[in-house]
Amino acid sequence: MSERETWATRAGFILAAVGSAVGLGNIWQFPFKTSEYGGATFLVVYLVAALGIGLPAMLAEFVVGRRSSLNAIGAFEELGHRNWKWVGVLGVGTGFWILSYYSVVGGWVLRYIGGSVTGAYFADPAAYFGQISAGVDALALHALFMILVVAIVAGGVEDGIEKATKLMVPSIVVILAVLGVWVFTLPGAGPGYTYFLSPDVSQLSLSVSFDPLPSFSGPLTDIIPFAVSQAFFSLSLGMGAMITYASYIGDDQSLFGDSITVVVLNSAVGILAGLVVIPLLFVQGIEPGSGGAGALFVSLATAFAELPAGRLVGVVFFAVVLIAALSSAISLLEVVVSYAVDNYGARRPQIAAVLGGLIFLLGIPSAWDTAWLGWFDTLAYQLLLPLSVLGILLFAGWIYGRPAVDELLSGSSLGLGVGMTWLWLARTVVILGVLLTLALGVQTLFIDGAIVPPL
Ligand code: PHE
Repeated sequence: MSERETWATRAGFILAAVGSAVGLGNIWQFPFKTSEYGGATFLVVYLVAALGIGLPAMLAEFVVGRRSSLNAIGAFEELGHRNWKWVGVLGVGTGFWILSYYSVVGGWVLRYIGGSVTGAYFADPAAYFGQISAGVDALALHALFMILVVAIVAGGVEDGIEKATKLMVPSIVVILAVLGVWVFTLPGAGPGYTYFLSPDVSQLSLSVSFDPLPSFSGPLTDIIPFAVSQAFFSLSLGMGAMITYASYIGDDQSLFGDSITVVVLNSAVGILAGLVVIPLLFVQGIEPGSGGAGALFVSLATAFAELPAGRLVGVVFFAVVLIAALSSAISLLEVVVSYAVDNYGARRPQIAAVLGGLIFLLGIPSAWDTAWLGWFDTLAYQLLLPLSVLGILLFAGWIYGRPAVDELLSGSSLGLGVGMTWLWLARTVVILGVLLTLALGVQTLFIDGAIVPPL
């Protein structure tokens, strides 16, 4: 009896965590960032980051969440460290920031479902993307996506979403796999695989000079912050989401096993999307890196226009992407809403609507012009995400420390050695990795001037 209960909880949690992790980050952003920042080299850094930094950081969030059983901000107080509340606040703020443009892209997906039904993008996929991705159209769809997210969070149709999530991951994998096989048969796909899968070792270099401040150069200068932050974004780290979800797990569950499942599944979906999108860009003669934020949409729309039953495939594909985007977006809004509900006794539907409205407003520039979307995204990747994950690691590793190991091991059959290894890795190598990421991001933002908004 208790066996079964444990299992049920465990599956529910893994599903929720996977539902949060798998989203536009994997299907839209991962192929686009990979094609922009060096292909296979990006992939290598991403995988190292997902396993070497993402996994330990996810364990840190799980520990804080499960131990405190509270929302992402309250958790730090509950554990007796009021001064570290800022980590939670930063996470919630980062989630707020990211959801503002995530919703804009969610709007594009909505639009592409319609476009697949009517075949509107068949004639000229690139022009279609240009038309719908900015201006009034994009604004209206951004609003619509946000309304859907608010409605789900407010109404608590979690039941439906949970069921949808259960179907989502298998459907995404199946559709992407079928598309992947089809792409494989296309003439001209070959160089795409080379670009995506065979790293150029000469690109794996980074040099630093001191004058007197450190300054970095070499191909990894750009790749590292984007690849590492991509791992955070994609794993839903640094935004309180995993803290909040973990606050519902029982002590009898192995945090290790769960986090490995999430990391592996999540990376697999990203790679699968890359195996479809990147060779397609080559088949269509689109220079990798020039596709930008539209890479996924333009390349797939072109493919659907050529495929037999392309409309149907298009509708199904974009519908699945929509579910993935929604299940991630709700977990982002849920973080903010659960904090407001816990602390201000606010009523859930009202607070969801108010916060959704504010997030919509923040997203207006991104919807209006994709240059703004790029700016919001850059700031999240180069600064907010690494800073936020750094905070979590510092807290779990150095401040909370030893009790974190006990919490980590509860419900697991692993020995103390594994727990202590996690602690010392988190305290040292992992934190150094995040610090390097942050230093590179700060250089790009403040020295190379990426912080200047596209006015
Ligand atoms: N991980 C989600 C994605 O890849 C986005 C997300 C980030 C969701 C943070 C929740 C919290 O699309």
